[in-house]
Amino acid sequence: MADAFAAYRDAKSTLIGGLRGTVLEIGAGRGRNFDALHRGVVWIGCEPHRRSRTRLAVAARRHGHSREPLPSAAESLPMPDASVDGVLATVVLCSVRDQSRVLDEIARVLRPGGAFVFAEHVAAPDHTWKHACQRMISPVTRLLDRGCDPARETEAVVRRSLLDVDLVRHFELPVLGAVTVPFIVGRAVRQERSEA
Ligand SMILES: C[S@@+](CC[C@H](N)C(=O)[O-])C[C@H]1O[C@@H](n2cnc3c(N)ncnc32)[C@H](O)[C@@H]1O
Repeated sequence: MADAFAAYRDAKSTLIGGLRGTVLEIGAGRGRNFDALHRGVVWIGCEPHRRSRTRLAVAARRHGHSREPLPSAAESLPMPDASVDGVLATVVLCSVRDQSRVLDEIARVLRPGGAFVFAEHVAAPDHTWKHACQRMISPVTRLLDRGCDPARETEAVVRRSLLDVDLVRHFELPVLGAVTVPFIVGRAVRQERSEA
């Protein structure tokens, strides 16, 4: 079980550490990913939750990132097209209001060839008791856990976007005794061709 967490953390850190240039981190929370980022990265953070953003700003400065985090939701990023080399989201796509819109925004702000790195808990396979439980508790977690929906088909949404998925790894992480939750860690690249 500890091995599963270690493998998940390794996979996540490796992909985060591979990002270069200007990196936008959406839903950056309190800044848990700073240690994994390459030291040369120019970091831009967005975090709509005010109290988390205040702590994020402090952590960002401590790690040498001078830009104040943006208060924006990832559905509407106040950034020009093709303006960043990488986008990072860890345990965020479970909570956003509209995943497809967020993926559209990520594809818009990424320069062609830029990478989106993600690590997310996701829905268990259809027709399993775990999936049924996720669906059952979803109204409660959405209400009490800042919109977090445990039954999101995040991999499918990323695959349907304008990004090319080049890597997805699947993990089962223990949450309650022997009960595990599926997680994915992956990377998708902005296609060179235009949307039209
Ligand atoms: C579980 S926390 C993860 C924080 C951080 N990424 C981490 O790995 O520690 C989910 C974060 O997503 C943020 N969030 C929720 N809805 C969002 C949205 N629509 N756009 C951007 N961030 C959002 C929340 O405020 C919260 O900070």
